[in-house]
Amino acid sequence: MKFKLRPWQVADLKDLVNYANNSKIAANLTDLFPHPYQEKDGNNFIQMVLKQNPTQVFAVEINKKASGSIGLHSQTDVHSKNMELGYWLAEDYWNKGIITAAVREMVAYGFKTFAINRIFARPFSTNIGSYKVLEKAGFKLEGQFIKSIFKNGKYVDELIYAICKD
Ligand SMILES: CC(C)(COP(=O)(O)OP(=O)(O)OC[C@H]1O[C@@H](n2cnc3c(N)ncnc32)[C@H](O)[C@@H]1OP(=O)(O)O)[C@@H](O)C(=O)NCCC(=O)NCCS
Repeated sequence: MKFKLRPWQVADLKDLVNYANNSKIAANLTDLFPHPYQEKDGNNFIQMVLKQNPTQVFAVEINKKASGSIGLHSQTDVHSKNMELGYWLAEDYWNKGIITAAVREMVAYGFKTFAINRIFARPFSTNIGSYKVLEKAGFKLEGQFIKSIFKNGKYVDELIYAICKD
């Protein structure tokens, strides 16, 4: 299925709220991703990412609509040569290979654009789809933090996946 990564736009608000307001998406993300996902949340998000230069968070555009998001998040201090990768996709388009291809694109973009040496992601151990994506895109499992996550009233493990530039 065809998709493209492009910067978020103010005009994406309606599609963003429509697709992001899904408990199956929120269940696999940190609590910074709210549920229910309201217009004010979408607006805050778009305003935040529009300030980035170079762009760090891109919309996943499918059929001319913003249908997901993928981004690299800066780290500080001794972790400044790392960025954290995060992503979600509208449920209508799951299991079609879209995010695997988008992750590959973001890894190439990240190492080309930012002075970093490592990109990591921290899927919950229950999120099989996400760690399959990371493995298909060349990330290696580095570790597992036992019951470090408390999400929706349950403890789950956190997996650490990463890819280095060199
Ligand atoms: C995780 C997510 C981004 C995956 O996006 P996607 O475009 O559907 O991913 P892909 O199609 O590239 O790859 C998914 C793989 O996982 C597999 N998969 C998905 N759910 C699975 C399950 N329950 N059991 C086994 N395999 C599963 C798919 O079959 C596919 O593997 P394959 O290509 O070998 O068949 C999407 O499901 C999503 O947005 N989930 C909610 C938010 C989220 O989890 N974000 C990541 C937080 S770390």
